Amino acid sequence: MSESTRIAFRDGSFVPYADLAVGFGTHALHYGTSVFEGLRAYWDADADELFLFRPREHFERLRGSARFFGMTPPYSAEELCRLTTELLARNELREDAYVRPVLYKGGDGIGLWRSDLPDCFAIFAVPMGKYIGDGGIRCCVSSWRRPHGNSAPARAKIGGMYAAMALARHEALEKGFDEAILLSADGRVAEGSAENIFLVIDGQLVTPSLGNDVLAGITRASVIDLAAAELGLTVVERDVNQSELTFADEVFLCGTAAEITPVVEIDHRVVGDGSVGPITGALARVYDAVAHGTRSEYLSWCRPVYAQTLEGAAR
Ligand SMILES: Cc1ncc(COP(=O)(O)O)c(C=O)c1O
Repeated sequence: MSESTRIAFRDGSFVPYADLAVGFGTHALHYGTSVFEGLRAYWDADADELFLFRPREHFERLRGSARFFGMTPPYSAEELCRLTTELLARNELREDAYVRPVLYKGGDGIGLWRSDLPDCFAIFAVPMGKYIGDGGIRCCVSSWRRPHGNSAPARAKIGGMYAAMALARHEALEKGFDEAILLSADGRVAEGSAENIFLVIDGQLVTPSLGNDVLAGITRASVIDLAAAELGLTVVERDVNQSELTFADEVFLCGTAAEITPVVEIDHRVVGDGSVGPITGALARVYDAVAHGTRSEYLSWCRPVYAQTLEGAAR
């Protein structure tokens, strides 16, 4: 798919990708007044099908994020699922892909909040392989903290809030690490710059509870379900101290983009024995199989793109 043939969706119609271009004065560009999502679609060659992973959950979260600005996406969550499958089909994507819907304050305007400016909505999709590293990655604990929930709502994906995450990721990459782990404002382990974090301690899976100002990740929720149902693991959501990162047997990050990414080193100290741990490896395999639509028990998480588009065309 080249940029010249790529199709996007903007304010009610399918348009060439180039038509998403916005003007320099666009409010969201200056003040971060946008809310967004990131979804993945997985290609299953055997089934000849592309599966959009948990779109309903993503679009419900988008609607929740939009509420903070008093915005409403112009479509219901179900309509957004259908628009997205149609977008993927129109782009004839037959490989793993990433989808980015954005609702933003458009129009030129100076001033932090301008209710007179229009709410604009766009979605685009691009092919996407691995987001960070293949195999285990090296992380640092960032000197930047995850903004406190009283400063920025942790449950929402608001464009401007991601400046804090970008600072942390920039610092990590500049220091030669692959990713940053952010502490919460009160010094507990929170999450990666765009991932939730899990630790394996004494055979249990431990993750910071949502009260630690972390995003309620959809991958995090999937991992919690799969760990219990598929691997029989006990999952504990609680406060996590920074020192536990050093004692953990295994650590991994998870998110739509990062999927399940093992962490093998934190601040130059190896995690466990420095290789990808058995529980992380097993979870990554099961997550991969589920997301590719090969596990019938979890097909409700996977929305087929081509079957649904044909179904829609036949009606
Ligand atoms: C800050 C942050 N934490 C965690 C995640 C993982 O969330 P999800 O699994 O829903 O992609 C993301 C990605 O959206 C994120 O931006």
